[in-house]
Amino acid sequence: MSGPQPRADVLKIAAYVGGESKLPGVNRVIKLSSNEGAFGPPPSAQAAFARVAADLHRYPDGGSVELRRAIGEKFGLDPARIVCGTGSDELIQHLCLIYGGPGTEIIASRHGFLMYEIAGTYAGSRVVKAPERNLTADVDAMLALVSPATRVLFLANPNNPTGSLLPQPEVERLRQGLPPEVLLVLDAAYAEFVERPDYDAGVKLVDAADNTVMLRTFSKVFGLGGMRVGWAYGPPGVVDALNRVRGVFNVNLAAQAAAVAALSEPGWVERNRAHTVAARGRLAERLTALGIKVWPSEGNFSLVDFGTASRADAANAWLKKRGIIVRAMASYQLPHCLRITIGTDDEVLLVCDALAEFVAAEGRAA
Ligand SMILES: Cc1ncc(COP(=O)(O)O)c(C=O)c1O
Repeated sequence: MSGPQPRADVLKIAAYVGGESKLPGVNRVIKLSSNEGAFGPPPSAQAAFARVAADLHRYPDGGSVELRRAIGEKFGLDPARIVCGTGSDELIQHLCLIYGGPGTEIIASRHGFLMYEIAGTYAGSRVVKAPERNLTADVDAMLALVSPATRVLFLANPNNPTGSLLPQPEVERLRQGLPPEVLLVLDAAYAEFVERPDYDAGVKLVDAADNTVMLRTFSKVFGLGGMRVGWAYGPPGVVDALNRVRGVFNVNLAAQAAAVAALSEPGWVERNRAHTVAARGRLAERLTALGIKVWPSEGNFSLVDFGTASRADAANAWLKKRGIIVRAMASYQLPHCLRITIGTDDEVLLVCDALAEFVAAEGRAA
């Protein structure tokens, strides 16, 4: 190869492949591949987006002041300890670059969100992955990987793509077992869907010391994935470091306006949560009755286990033929599974019906 050469670490990265959104020859696609909200963007966010159209020549507020104020008000947090990002992906990347780097290690769990590995490797860190128990993060296995080189540990809770949740006492045990200088990143992208009474998205641990940060996003329950807005709530030292390195105008004008409006859409989160929990339950019930294993999930998606990679591939192809796009899981070392986002009631019904036909066709072929 001639021309400028990237750092060797960059070439170790397998580029993230997002959920597909188009199928050749299919007009009406049902996209259940990226855990986007079932109901689209909140009406108030759409109106706010339209309102700023005439101001698009203006740079956005580089400090996302109004957005941080609105987040602070909604979640009862100090806006000074909030940093907004171009999706939480941007913040994951900066945390790796700030605290990681050559000679350091970053810990994630085996089937954790892929961006941790991509961002950590980009930073030059060695990303080490702990085995899981029942597709759930295992505190002892993660703590066993801690070395003097460890700088950051990422835990998505609930986790994508498994849907599993680590109970609060276990999250606290993890923090207690980590050396104080290791940053614990609690990625709560799916926090709004969790119904368990003892769940804490991360605020408790962030407030308890200076070494834990919580990440949140507008891409899931708030239906604004296309706007790219995420945020971190952290101790002053982490907030200060993020503010030094983040893009100066990282959250664009329309995104800030839409996100502020989304936060005050009446009943939006509650309606989405109630729908997700009910529809996820129906999906699990129907597929289980077909003899297909569905892993328990606390997010707006379910990991569906077909037993073998070839059966999962066949099911995926069957769904695609019917215009339904779900997410293949080979990149997560789960090639025998498909991840299905919880869409509208109709979409859930269609995916269940299609899989029922798939199982029936398998039966006929046998
Ligand atoms: C666990 C987890 N963290 C972070 C993200 C990224 O979210 P954002 O759209 O805010 O970058 C996702 C998106 O799928 C996710 O599943």
